[in-house]
Amino acid sequence: MFSSLDALAPDPILGLIALANKDNNPRKVDLGVGVYKDESGLTPIMAAVKTAEFNCAEKELTKAYIGPAGPAEFNNGIRELIFGAQHPALQAGRVSTVLTPGGCGALRVGAEFLKRCNDNATVWVSDPTWANHLPLLGNAGLKLAEYPYYEAGSSTIKFDEMMSALANAGKGDIVLLHGCCHNPCGADLSEDQWQALTDLAAKNGFLPFIDLAYQGFGRGLDEDAFGPRLMAAQLPELLVASSCSKNFGLYRERVGSLSVLGDSSTQAEAALTHINNVVRGNYSMPPSHGGAIVGEILGDQALRQSWESELAAMRNRINQLRVLLVDKLSAQNVDADFSFIARQHGMFSFLGLSLAQVEQLREQYSIYMVGSSRVNIAGISQTNIDYVAQSIAAVLAR
Ligand code: LMR
Repeated sequence: MFSSLDALAPDPILGLIALANKDNNPRKVDLGVGVYKDESGLTPIMAAVKTAEFNCAEKELTKAYIGPAGPAEFNNGIRELIFGAQHPALQAGRVSTVLTPGGCGALRVGAEFLKRCNDNATVWVSDPTWANHLPLLGNAGLKLAEYPYYEAGSSTIKFDEMMSALANAGKGDIVLLHGCCHNPCGADLSEDQWQALTDLAAKNGFLPFIDLAYQGFGRGLDEDAFGPRLMAAQLPELLVASSCSKNFGLYRERVGSLSVLGDSSTQAEAALTHINNVVRGNYSMPPSHGGAIVGEILGDQALRQSWESELAAMRNRINQLRVLLVDKLSAQNVDADFSFIARQHGMFSFLGLSLAQVEQLREQYSIYMVGSSRVNIAGISQTNIDYVAQSIAAVLAR
């Protein structure tokens, strides 16, 4: 059965972890996979997470099954974090939420649910998008189409082209949107652009599916949820996948959520029975540990405050590094304008380098980034930023 299998090439993002780990150069800089790193290069466990983990261990009385939807404390807390506690859609009981194994689990369950709603559905994804969106959605049987999003030359969003392409998406189609901190390009929709897209969805009837993997990493917890909140206020139906990997630093615990907004509370409840059924036929029910930690933090005022301020410090560090990187590159007199990096949000930006230049940086300078020249800004530090800027300038000068 397995004799015909050839080994696959490493994953374009995860493969970089192994490559960087093998590199003994003391100056190596890993700007590959999207994990937050502090000034010392560590991906810290947040203080609120440590305390919540301890509290949960103390409080936990049983390891009995938690059911396909996961615990109510998590589902209520994360729903309010995404939409805002006072959101009219929440007040009307129009949003059902389940705990999923990471944001990936949410995307996959959402895709299977949508396939069930419309066997012929096409999901439109941005060009570019996170590489893993394609198998997560496509392997569930959804057809894929692309809409233009980012222009590398000007480092801006091609909004007019995006809107023209999405004019072809109609009822029964799905449009995948990045809620904030676009992965891989860091260029986010403005509030006016969200409004224009919401109007188009209302007019044409397509269903937005928002991937909110970085809430709190861009401009702030509320600001980063502008798109989902607007769409939930103005559209009859919506799907939101969220991840707690980045904003709670719970990467390996696999915590995320899938929320479905229905036209009425009855519709949202009916949708939930289908989502639970998709979960049951997939992994039966989610792991509880990570969701319990998030539920504990969101339900405890002191822990929540501690978490929000640590998250703000992470966000500010990334935003300061963005500005500093632009300054350092400009001080190298490079023949390129990198000022867009400071205008973008979240962990990622494209440097606009060729694959050959990305390979030179890896092979000659031990600087690791995705082949598209996507960099994880959080991998930069005060210690390595000069080396990074000098190395980029050196390959650009060749
Ligand atoms: C990334 O884009 O680097 C992260 O979302 C990690 C991953 O799984 O690809």
